[in-house]
Amino acid sequence: MNQLLVHAGNTPTELIAYCEDNNILVEAYSPIAHGKILNNPDVAAMADRYGVSVPQLCIRYTLQLGTVSLPKTANPDHMRSNAQLDFEITDDDMDTLRTLRARDYGEHSVFPVYSGK
Ligand SMILES: NC(=O)c1ccc[n+]([C@@H]2O[C@H](COP(=O)([O-])OP(=O)(O)OC[C@H]3O[C@@H](n4cnc5c(N)ncnc54)[C@H](OP(=O)(O)O)[C@@H]3O)[C@@H](O)[C@H]2O)c1
Repeated sequence: MNQLLVHAGNTPTELIAYCEDNNILVEAYSPIAHGKILNNPDVAAMADRYGVSVPQLCIRYTLQLGTVSLPKTANPDHMRSNAQLDFEITDDDMDTLRTLRARDYGEHSVFPVYSGK
């Protein structure tokens, strides 16, 4: 397996395809972009269309990419809703989320995994 930073706004498509071709399971860490994606109005609008929360949309996105999703929460209510993922993102919306570019990790930008170092 390989653990990679994967979330809407940061999807290493070629690397995921390479792993798939070589039977390497990808674990997607920070699928909610460390919480930063909650501030993205386009992603919030898409989540509204499905009647789900932004975290639910983002976790479902990483599952539909074929990865194992590693969301983090310290809130039991969030944990419960994050596990309710019985909906399907359309191919068009998957493409939109795949091509989204969001590199502002705010205060977390100082960490190597988020600073691109
Ligand atoms: N291998 C590596 O290099 C590496 C690097 C970074 C992280 N990780 C691991 O990957 C996991 C994820 O880490 P992460 O913190 O970066 O990212 P994340 O899962 O992308 O985001 C976690 C943030 O989203 C919030 N959140 C989660 N569910 C929510 C909900 N339903 N509504 C509102 N907010 C919600 C959490 O706040 P609340 O607690 O308030 O819900 C927390 O602030 C962790 O297990 C971490 O250890 C691995």
